[in-house]
Amino acid sequence: MADFPLPAAASAADWWRSAAIYQVYPRSFADGDGDGTGDLAGVRAKLPYLAELGVDALWFTPWYLSPLADGGYDVADYRTIDPAFGTLDEAEKLIAEATGLGIRTIVDIVPNHVSDQHVWFRAALAAGPGSPERALFHFRPGRGEHGELPPGDWPSQFAGATWTQVPDGEWYLHLFTPEQPDLNWAHPAVRREHEEVLRFWFERGVAGVRIDSAALLAKDPALPDLAGRPGEPWPGEVHPYIDRDELHDIYRSWRAIADEFGAIFVGEVWLPDSERFARYLRPDELHTAFNFSFLSCPWDAARLRTSIEETLAEHAPVGAPATWVLCNHDVTRTVTRYGRQDTGFDFAAKVFGTPTDLALGTRRARAAALLTLALPGAVYVYQGEELGLPEADVPLDRIQDPMHFRSGGRDPGRDGCRVPLPWSAEPWRNPWLPQPAHWATYAADRQATDPESTLTLYRRALGLRRAARGFGTGSMEWLPAPDGVLAFARPDGLVCVVNLSEGPVPLPGHTSLLLSSAPLDDAGLLPQDTAVWLRT
Ligand code: NOJ
Repeated sequence: MADFPLPAAASAADWWRSAAIYQVYPRSFADGDGDGTGDLAGVRAKLPYLAELGVDALWFTPWYLSPLADGGYDVADYRTIDPAFGTLDEAEKLIAEATGLGIRTIVDIVPNHVSDQHVWFRAALAAGPGSPERALFHFRPGRGEHGELPPGDWPSQFAGATWTQVPDGEWYLHLFTPEQPDLNWAHPAVRREHEEVLRFWFERGVAGVRIDSAALLAKDPALPDLAGRPGEPWPGEVHPYIDRDELHDIYRSWRAIADEFGAIFVGEVWLPDSERFARYLRPDELHTAFNFSFLSCPWDAARLRTSIEETLAEHAPVGAPATWVLCNHDVTRTVTRYGRQDTGFDFAAKVFGTPTDLALGTRRARAAALLTLALPGAVYVYQGEELGLPEADVPLDRIQDPMHFRSGGRDPGRDGCRVPLPWSAEPWRNPWLPQPAHWATYAADRQATDPESTLTLYRRALGLRRAARGFGTGSMEWLPAPDGVLAFARPDGLVCVVNLSEGPVPLPGHTSLLLSSAPLDDAGLLPQDTAVWLRT
């Protein structure tokens, strides 16, 4: 394997404060055995690519044994790698090889629910009503004369009902699909098991854990009806299943375990209330949480500036670094989103056939990459963002995502951002989701040698970010700029300018232009939808 220098950040205990973390969706990243499904052999073969890209860590979405009812977020066994992806032995080798290249590994833990094929749930079904096995989940008798009605009215995060009846008449709770029964976090065995799962992976050299649906685990034991209240907490309200105070005790015990191993957490915490969000990041809880306000924000200078300011302000009191995310395996790819009339992201607004201008979206996504990589904190890059991939149109008869089916077919689902990566113009053999024919133009091997490609832009940006200490977690200061332009200074004279206004703008004084997302115009002005990094 090629010899790459260890990144500066890799030696420091607080690497996670300014890390560039690459999200791997294993099923679609790289196919080592040619069966059309990505696997660990594929990832191992691409480690030199990731090292050259210049990322500090890899976050793997679930790679465990799973019937894949929700893309692996339905885990049947945390201690087994799904045979479609490989073996535990290969996972250990992958972690070790990546570490050897200065790349840490983050695994995904899904504590809110398990697969209906998990041994606990199968035992609960077999054991019957009132059994200790059922106490690990939320089983209840139904309402109505014969128990024929669901025991509660909570809406699913994926549309539809949250209760499913089993043959003996009882019902069980699932905030997501029926194949993902919710665990009862008031049960000590549930806590114990997850603590052991954390140790299991930390002992294998994993440097961090991403916590799925981190604000949903704890439930009011009475499972009270929402009775028309929205499925989001009101300010000051104690919600029956979102952001309950009991969660903090769980995460404090997790933090103590992570500290034994020097490992870190990143929580998936979607909460509108920034003060409540920041509570998860107190020094004895999670290290970081995803910043979804930035991801959802439209391509608009004032709105982005507000999002950045609010994010930094909410993190400051707890001393946690912000995270910056433009895309992930759940949302519309950045290039497609930024080419639309409405450039924000909202799950509820997703429909088929929204027009997009891919040239415009690409231009903006390139500028957004430089903006994001210049902000103070950690940054996440979702596989394929570095190739400038757009959302793929997945043919109706190939869609697999339960979000699509549970919406009654209105929501296109999330498969469009999960299509296998184009490594070369040659498509994958029998890919589990079809690659659009025009994706040959995005092929990684082609972009690698093209100085103008998005891959080259990402490589340069990540390389500069790593080499220039000023892009770490230090201060950030807004500079005077015309309307529609974001300009800010980072330590060591680094400046980022992003032009979201309608015409070209002059650059502030500088000694060198380090990088630009598109060429300056003939007059040396910064064109619309372009970003630069300067040294002043
Ligand atoms: C969030 C994950 O990112 C998503 O892919 C999954 O469907 C849900 N949590 C349920 O686990």
